[in-house]
Amino acid sequence: MDTKVVTVQARGETFSYEAEQALREAGEVLRAGGLVAFPTETVYGLGGDALNPESARKIYAAKGRPSDNPLIVHIARMEDLKAIVRQVPGEALVLARAFWPGPLTMIFPKADCVPRETTGGLETVAVRMPSHPVARGLILRGGGYVAAPSANLSGRPSPTAVRYVIEDMDGRIDMILDGGEGEIGLESTIVDLTVSPPQILRPGSVTRDMLEAVLGQVSIDRTILEADSGQAPRAPGMKYRHYAPQGELTIIAGPAARVTDYINVHGAKDREQGHKVGVIGTDEALAQYRADVVRSLGSRQDEAGIARHLYGILREFDDLQVTRIYSECFEASGLGQAIMNRLLKAAGHRLIVLDAADQAGE
Ligand code: TXA
Ligand code: MG
Repeated sequence: MDTKVVTVQARGETFSYEAEQALREAGEVLRAGGLVAFPTETVYGLGGDALNPESARKIYAAKGRPSDNPLIVHIARMEDLKAIVRQVPGEALVLARAFWPGPLTMIFPKADCVPRETTGGLETVAVRMPSHPVARGLILRGGGYVAAPSANLSGRPSPTAVRYVIEDMDGRIDMILDGGEGEIGLESTIVDLTVSPPQILRPGSVTRDMLEAVLGQVSIDRTILEADSGQAPRAPGMKYRHYAPQGELTIIAGPAARVTDYINVHGAKDREQGHKVGVIGTDEALAQYRADVVRSLGSRQDEAGIARHLYGILREFDDLQVTRIYSECFEASGLGQAIMNRLLKAAGHRLIVLDAADQAGE
């Protein structure tokens, strides 16, 4: 299949003539049952008509993704919500007022018109209203309901730039809309509204504190940060070893000087054994690392920057065929909870905690 790549620039909600043409064509592709990758404010999505079971099957095939992993339905207008869910609880209205359009996904009991293929066999449906103007433009022209997982091959980091979408999806889908880089870089926060109190199934840039500020109490799925909670995560997708780089990633926590020492000593040993060693650091410590490839997520002070840069660096390490990776560790609160959730998953929960007394090389 030939995949058409088109740049779509938006100024606010208005599009150039060319952009309007491209969006209209992409909308037709969706309505005819085809697939279009598109930018959102989080990561690129791989869109198909959410009400067409055949489109859902094509999405799973293009991603190489197990079909028990449900898709998020993207809408562009509040009035479209009630057609696809059985009931809209008051909490949903409160959350929508505060965070839609934006990086928040809510889980509802599904209406009959949403096929099981879209929801991975579940009786619930995940819904999000993205804020990115290209995403909104596409949804409105594509029938109003766009099922879209992240536009990566299953097992790779979500794409934060169009070049990663092309890498993974060229030849597998009908069209790719290039709308620049995602400003957030991590997937949306998922909140389940079918339980009480509402529960966070996937942390994102809408943090627990932000949700509690408008909702009162919100719980959190224990599997989000724990390696062996003995429970299956409630968002089926979170059980897969997502976000995994090809090299073995270990996160090193502790006092900054000990962390750099540990990484340098262990990295040197790995290199003696023939490994290509990569380091995921921050601006504050970058000059001190010795490894084959050293990359910075930005300043420790800038959590949003760290979130934005993480997936691109993981992909770059794959491209450079790095076989051992060490990463600094981050506070698991606020946006840091989403960052650490993704980093721990990428590391298969390999985390080494050094205290001030540990000797490097131990
Ligand atoms: O930011 C995002 O949410 C991006 C952009 C494209 O919007 N999309 C995204 O989709 O990350 P995906 O498919 O990569 O992740 C969807 C997650 C999976 O972990 C899935 O299991 C969970 O949402 N999910 C979807 N429907 C669900 C449901 N009914 N109940 C529980 N979890 C659900
Ligand atoms: Mg994904």
